[in-house]
Order: sequence, then C-alpha cells, then structure tokens
Amino acid sequence: MSVHKKAEVKKITTHQLQEMKIRGEKIAMLTAYDYSMARIIDHAGIDVILVGDSASNVMAGNETTLPITLDQMIYHASSVVKAVKRALVVVDIPFGYYQGSSGEALRSSIRIMKESGAHAVKLEGGSEVKDSVLRILSAGVPVMGHLGLTPQSIYKFGTYSVRAKEEQEANKLLEDALLLQECGCFGIVLEKIPAELGKKVSLQLRIPTIGIGAGPDTDGQVLVMQDMLGITQEFKPRFLRRYADLNSVITSAVNSYVSDVKAKSFPSTEEKY
Ligand code: KIV
Repeated sequence: MSVHKKAEVKKITTHQLQEMKIRGEKIAMLTAYDYSMARIIDHAGIDVILVGDSASNVMAGNETTLPITLDQMIYHASSVVKAVKRALVVVDIPFGYYQGSSGEALRSSIRIMKESGAHAVKLEGGSEVKDSVLRILSAGVPVMGHLGLTPQSIYKFGTYSVRAKEEQEANKLLEDALLLQECGCFGIVLEKIPAELGKKVSLQLRIPTIGIGAGPDTDGQVLVMQDMLGITQEFKPRFLRRYADLNSVITSAVNSYVSDVKAKSFPSTEEKY
C-alpha cells in the first residue's frame, strides 16, 4: 500500500522571523485585507501578511485609519486567514480598542485571535502601551509593536511627515523599542524615520524590525499592497516603489469589456450555452 503524503507547507512563525534576523535574511511583509489577494501573495512567497488598519483608507475610503472598527478588522482578518497556508498573519488592533485599559486591549486581542484565526496582533506606541502589551502577551498572544509615524495619532502629529528627526524624539524611539523588546514583542514596525535611526534601532535590538520608509537596514520591509501594485495613484511618498501599474491594467480591461458589451461582441457564439 502506498501512502501519498501531500507536500507540507512550512508555516512562518515568530521564531522563524527571529532566526531570519540572526542569519541576515530580510523579511518581506505586505498588507492584505481579503481572501483573493491574500491567496495570491501567500502563494507568491510573502513571509508576513499584515491585516493593517490601512484597510480604513484603501478598502473603506476613509481619510485616516481612525474610523475602522474591531468588527471590521475581524471581518478582513478572517477572510485573509482562510486564504493563507504559509505566511504569518498579523492584525492591527484598531484605534479605540486598546488605549482605554490593558483589560480592553486583552479583550480586543482575544476577539481578534478567536474570531479570525490570526497569529498575532500589532498595536501602535511605546511606553504608553506597555501595560497593554504585557497583558496581551500574558494571554499567550504574540504582539508586534509600531513606532515612528503612528497613523492612529495623526491628529496629535498634525502631518504625515518623517518622525524622530530631532535627537530627543529619536532617543525616545530607541528607548521605546528596547522597552517593547523587554516586554516580549516579537518584532517592531518602524514607520517613516531617518534611515540612520532605522539602522541604529535594528542593530541594537535582538528582535526583527520591519521598516516602511525607515531605510534599507531594517530587518524587513513592509508596504501597503494597493500602493506597491499601483492601484492607489495619489499616494506618492519617496519610500514607495511601485512594482506594477494595476490601475492602468484594470482600467484598460474594463474599457475593453465596456466596448465589447456595447458593440454586442461579448458574449460570442462560443461563450453561450
Ligand atoms: O496599517 C498598516 O498598513 C500599517 C503599515 C503601514 C505598517 O500599519
């Protein structure tokens, strides 16, 4: 009797991300918010999928990440999880669901883990969220930090410009990164900070850093998928490399479809029953 075993896909874990940092292998992370796209990028070899609260911007059309709710994040995350075979799936705890107390942070994280099947949560901030980070970790839920430009605080910053250019803010960011590491975070996103600071923080930490606009020396990179695929058009920060122009591809496909329907050339004889 022959036993046919399906080739097993080796899942990415937080421990593997740590090992990747040790051996100098860069970590590739992208956002995704739905089943179809998550399936493609998981199959294409992405290491980490972030169900980011940027869903508020790119999926729901809001100006900021603030309006998205926990229920909406869980909806996106559960769609992504169903598609993923290999990548680690990290979910943002949205604004207003962890800042109140560490108990609220724990309840939100447990809902995300139970209802979506995701593997980890991410939240923004340093010393201000220490108690929440510890409480979530105490329940066995892996936590990723997020420092630098933290979009949930946009109305405090006033702009989306580069953070931690001044020494004082740079020192605070490094202290916060070390604190998050001591608390037990498995990684930290560094958003829109000077490349030198991205390098300094990455060298001082044992845990991996994932940069977005934080230079080439972080342990990994993350981009919003709609931005790197050229679906969004208006957003053009210096750090964004576009790997495709899907806006043009989709527009041209839809133009052709509209023409064919109007010209009565679709469906053809072969395309009917
Ligand atoms: O929500 C998001 O997409 C993010 C990335 C920009 C890191 O937090």
